[in-house]
Amino acid sequence: MERVKTGIPGLDEMLNGGIPKGHSVAVIGSFGTGKTTFAMQFINEGLSNGERCIFLSLEEDEDSIYKSASVFGWDFKRYVEEDKLLVIKLDPEDAKSSVERLQSDIPEMITEFNAQRISVDSISLITMLYETEEERRKALFSFSKSVKESGATSLFTAEVDPRNPTVSRDGLVEYVVDGVILLRFVEDRNLMRPRIRVLKMRRTAHTREEKEYEITDHGIEVIVSGDVF
Ligand SMILES: Nc1ncnc2c1ncn2[C@@H]1O[C@H](COP(=O)(O)OP(=O)(O)O)[C@@H](O)[C@H]1O
Ligand SMILES: [Mg+2]
Repeated sequence: MERVKTGIPGLDEMLNGGIPKGHSVAVIGSFGTGKTTFAMQFINEGLSNGERCIFLSLEEDEDSIYKSASVFGWDFKRYVEEDKLLVIKLDPEDAKSSVERLQSDIPEMITEFNAQRISVDSISLITMLYETEEERRKALFSFSKSVKESGATSLFTAEVDPRNPTVSRDGLVEYVVDGVILLRFVEDRNLMRPRIRVLKMRRTAHTREEKEYEITDHGIEVIVSGDVF
């Protein structure tokens, strides 16, 4: 089976070599756990390998995305100029026009750009554009279908339900994706240590062990057992 490296040191080993190609994966966690960083690192790994990539954001506008990425040394702007990276910004506050775009030009852009990787940050802000549970479910299914049909390996970030921080806020995304990775903070004395766990990954073996990770100037890095002191 062909696999796609996440670009996160330590995580690909947890996944037995990476995400199976063409899979969609949800990265769920509370704010500050590093979901946006994860989504960008995944894209940067693809770009470094010469792949075409799409970064769809509802959180930050283009300039802010370039700035956030450059902190980690990832030059997204250059790849956009080289037509290797497509950055799409959707405004979560303008629900009407965002919903229209999700039905019209965005699926087209996804098909036409012919990307090998797509990151969506965040899928929670997409589902929030819809008022009823029914609309949310339909939109999520049809969006993930167009991503899937493009053949790209995709990553959707999602906020967790504050009352139950091991499931996504909308409680839906887990059911449309092939894999779920959970990020969470564990309190250790006066420190909040981030931990990562693969909850589900179809068609591959993976570790179920929870590991610590850190966010550094190079992005996310899983701390391999033995390194912890
Ligand atoms: N350059 C960096 N060095 C160290 N930690 C960083 C750096 N950039 C971001 N972080 C950490 O990552 C956290 C935010 O990550 P982010 O990906 O925006 O999380 P989320 O999208 O889940 O809210 C920050 O609160 C900070 O702790
Ligand atoms: Mg974020």
